[in-house]
Amino acid sequence: MSSIESNVTETRVFPPADAVVKKATISGMAAYEALCKEADQDYAGFWARLAREHVSWKQPFTKSLDESKAPFYEWFADGKLNVSYNCLDRNIEAGLGDKVAIIFEADGGQVSKITYKELLVRVARFANALKAQGIKKGDRVLIYMPMSVEGVVAMQACARIGAIHSVVFGGFSAKSVQERIQDAGAVAVITSDEQCRGGKNIPLKPAVDDGIAMGGCESIKTVIVFKRTGGPCNMVAGRDIWWEDATAGQSDVCEPEWVGAEHPLFLLYTSGSTGKPKGVQHSSGGYLLHAILTMKWTFDIKPDDVFWCTADIGWVTGHTYITYGPLACGATEIVFEGVPTYPDAGRFWKTIEKHKVNIFYTAPTAIRSLIKAGENAPTTHPKNFDLSSLRILGSVGEPINPEAWMWYYNNVGGARCPIVDTFWQTETGGHMITPLPGATPLVPGSCTLPFPGIAAAIVDETGNDVEWGKGGFLVVKKPWPAMIRTIYGDPERYKKSYFPVDFGGNLYLAGDGAMRDAKTGYFTIMGRIDDVLNVSGHRMGTMEIESALVSNPLVAEAAVVGRPDDLTGEAICAFVVLKQARPTAEEAKKIANELRNWVGKEIGPIAKPKDIRFGENLPKTRSGKIMRRLLRSLAKGEEITQDVSTLENPGILDQLKQNA
Ligand code: WT7
Repeated sequence: MSSIESNVTETRVFPPADAVVKKATISGMAAYEALCKEADQDYAGFWARLAREHVSWKQPFTKSLDESKAPFYEWFADGKLNVSYNCLDRNIEAGLGDKVAIIFEADGGQVSKITYKELLVRVARFANALKAQGIKKGDRVLIYMPMSVEGVVAMQACARIGAIHSVVFGGFSAKSVQERIQDAGAVAVITSDEQCRGGKNIPLKPAVDDGIAMGGCESIKTVIVFKRTGGPCNMVAGRDIWWEDATAGQSDVCEPEWVGAEHPLFLLYTSGSTGKPKGVQHSSGGYLLHAILTMKWTFDIKPDDVFWCTADIGWVTGHTYITYGPLACGATEIVFEGVPTYPDAGRFWKTIEKHKVNIFYTAPTAIRSLIKAGENAPTTHPKNFDLSSLRILGSVGEPINPEAWMWYYNNVGGARCPIVDTFWQTETGGHMITPLPGATPLVPGSCTLPFPGIAAAIVDETGNDVEWGKGGFLVVKKPWPAMIRTIYGDPERYKKSYFPVDFGGNLYLAGDGAMRDAKTGYFTIMGRIDDVLNVSGHRMGTMEIESALVSNPLVAEAAVVGRPDDLTGEAICAFVVLKQARPTAEEAKKIANELRNWVGKEIGPIAKPKDIRFGENLPKTRSGKIMRRLLRSLAKGEEITQDVSTLENPGILDQLKQNA
């Protein structure tokens, strides 16, 4: 049974324990329903109340939602604030200056702690350094950094001066760096010499040099380099400057740049259904509000909690639940540099024990890989660690299969901690559909119910509601404060991608299929409905991988589909036609490896196809259209039972069954 089917037929229910309900900020379903009702009765008023209560404004806003330029919605637009002020100064003003903000757990297990006061000093000095380099409000700054306190400092410093950061995940290639610099017209890059992963030092700076050298990056005036390891690092005279030199002599004080609520806080590139990643643009005020609210309601964060989100700052999860949400709530959080399996698969559990983590947020793929690793190395099983500090567990990025959910619940959470299975996207800014730990009865594999104020629904292809129990397209019927504002430089694509006319033009289309349970109305996410794959919780466009493949001189044509994978959720499967004759089995292995490395260079290692199959051609209809549903069946190893009568060349199906 595929995991999606078992998610839909799951019947176990786990109501929240009394102890959790009693202490929770949103305590009991009645409290949840009251919030939903408030939002229903006065939508703009509901969000305005919360924005006044949870965000500190330099200048209060007078208007909540502005729909006059729909679907380019605005929230709290005449309000002024600074996000970094909300994350740092206001906590210090509230007496939290000596509280630990960040516990940095390095790859090798070394620990360093930094208080709110110290963090503000570092952010202010670096913000002043950015200004000294001529970087100002509205400029785009690319951040290509390992997991580090400095990564967070760099983002916060941009926010402090009103510069717009664009973080690129450290696993992406030089070419990705170049494309993102070009698209955003970035004026500076912040990077580091190397990154440490699994006991190895991996160069990072060369990808910046190579990316810029690929051309079209004349906008870049400065590259600031943080010395992580002190390993070999080429510095370009007149352009590159060490972090320590850039900050030397800078003042510890930097007055925040007060910006309008709609001022862009960041761009974050994500895959869509065309070859070119989209620069998702987020706001300052609305985004910050949702980051704070979800910390308080979904994670039920309390003043003494230690919070740990294992994501990388290169993904939206790291933005909202490392750089902004926890700090805006004055929490103590872990910033983790390593990998879950180094020095062994007990690393997460050991780290939870060591720092007495209360709230732990990770991805299903990590859980599944640790279950597997633990089978071969029993000492890494969570039962060998004291995990009694844990109170709440979270899951994000992909559907969690009920088996992994139960293992997480019993072995990590000791059957005592609610699991919040949070559905959201780069575009949504924060959680959209999720249990609230002190209210929502849990069903393994279901993200349960919408966050209060989020008008999630399931519709058919004409935009009409479908009945509970039937599948359809996941949409959001009303704009919400943390939503994407536009695709940078391409407002038309924003409209087309998220507010398509077929659906009436006023529904936000998430791009996922979903269904609601016939009785409870609980949501289950069935996976993407566009040409986007989800590999280990990372979004990959099939077209992006196809363009990477066909740019290789050996390749004539390529089609990429996903297939279910026990570990990574989905795996990438590429069907390739070479310019030369179809290779022999032995040649095929060699070429497949070459192509994998090629894709790794073009996009990044996470985009390398797991399966590569060679054919003389691809299955096409007489009009020349690639039959992707056939490829999906082939990728799964299914017998072809579909109608292949329209297929031009049925003989090649046999060729495409064989993996290189
Ligand atoms: C896509 C968004 C949200 C941060 C990480 C991913 C899938 C995300 C869940 C979940 C089932 C999920 C969806 C979504 N997804 N969370 N809890 N259950 N699917 O952000 O890279 O923008 O990807 O991830 O398919 O559309 P992203």
